[in-house]
Amino acid sequence: MQLIFVHIFCCDTNFVFCCKIDSEPMDINKDSTPYEFPSSDLMVLEGHTSEVFSCAWSPEGSLLASASRDCTARIWTIGDGPCNSTIRRRAPNVLVLKSLESQTNETDDLVTTLNWNSEGTLLATGSHEGKVRMWNRYGELVKNLDNHSCPIFGLKWNKMGDYLLSGSVDRTAVVWNVISGKPKQQFEFPSVVIDVDWQNNDSFAVSLTGGMIYICKVGENRPVKRFSGHENDVNAVNWDPSGSLLASCSDDATVKIWSMKQDVCLHDFREHSEITYTIKWSPTGAGTSNPNQPLLLASGSFDATVKIWNVKQGRLLQSLNRHRGPVFSVAFSPNGKYLASGSADKCMHIWSVKE
Ligand SMILES: *[C@@H]1O[C@H](CO)[C@@H](O)[C@H](O)[C@H]1NC(C)=O
Ligand SMILES: *[C@@H]1O[C@H](CO)[C@@H](O)[C@H](O)[C@H]1NC(C)=O
Ligand SMILES: *[C@@H]1O[C@H](CO)[C@@H](O)[C@H](O)[C@H]1NC(C)=O
Ligand SMILES: *[C@@H]1O[C@H](CO)[C@@H](O)[C@H](O)[C@H]1NC(C)=O
Repeated sequence: MQLIFVHIFCCDTNFVFCCKIDSEPMDINKDSTPYEFPSSDLMVLEGHTSEVFSCAWSPEGSLLASASRDCTARIWTIGDGPCNSTIRRRAPNVLVLKSLESQTNETDDLVTTLNWNSEGTLLATGSHEGKVRMWNRYGELVKNLDNHSCPIFGLKWNKMGDYLLSGSVDRTAVVWNVISGKPKQQFEFPSVVIDVDWQNNDSFAVSLTGGMIYICKVGENRPVKRFSGHENDVNAVNWDPSGSLLASCSDDATVKIWSMKQDVCLHDFREHSEITYTIKWSPTGAGTSNPNQPLLLASGSFDATVKIWNVKQGRLLQSLNRHRGPVFSVAFSPNGKYLASGSADKCMHIWSVKE
């Protein structure tokens, strides 16, 4: 079974939308008429009372975690198999994770982001007030990780799962020792940290407002590399599956590709005409479970397009021009065959990567 998921960011709906595809998707929309999912194929996860900022499947795909402005995170159990009428009538099993100082008192600390560890045993959440929380898959609080004083937007486990990295508006990133729950190391930067991504088990990239990208290593007091080239806020950084190429996207509308071997970017893609908000590498190519498919990069932009790049060849492969509003989110299916995109136009599209 393939799982395809798009998080809908900054929209005014109060539910998580997820899409499970069991076999080849039908050609539902070769023409340009909008397609409405038949309600028989749709499962709506109701419960959040305000915007859902972020969602993530657990690595094995049976749990969906969601983070919301309503100050809760939730873990939904989504059964296997097609979404049939029996499944839809059953209320989905949901655990409500309250981002509280005490477990009983309501707060107004909205949950901005979340991330599963690679084993799917622990979920980390970050909040607007700078609280980092570690939960188990049964929704129980495991640790309070308190060091930040401002909103957390970047939060990632390393592959090994011994470090958790959080990046904050307070201009710091903290590497947490997961066992002790204490900061292993705090890194300070000249401006706000927007996104973080691990290159390997102890090196990571940090993207900042203003345009800088830093590469840091646990144990080193100074950044091991500085990438300058973006002219405005870097909205996302993402290492390719082998950890050799870093992609970044920015308010300056460009997508850039960096390598540790040089200081200037390898590629400077300028085909987007507005803010590029999100980028994702395909789970394909060397070192992935789909080694025979080429490695691709997808980007989503406020120019309403989704673009697919062949980075090795340094060129734009496809511009996908069906959205009518800013594209906030893109996600490849685990087999690399499909790309889903979500937009402020209230549409989600699922693209066949090959076509
Ligand atoms: C619906 O799916 C469940 C789980 O896959 C299965 O046990 C059940 O028989 C299905 N019901 C129908 C009406 O197909
Ligand atoms: C929780 O709320 C109760 C009642 O308002 C209050 O007495 C108590 O101190 C609060 N606990 C915490 C940890 O804020
Ligand atoms: C955060 O962690 C650093 C490094 O351990 C420490 O120096 C600093 O005092 C901590 N700040 C807060 C607010 O806990
Ligand atoms: C990181 O740690 C995991 C688990 O020990 C290991 O499988 C992986 O190869 C390591 N990655 C790198 C790049 O060293």
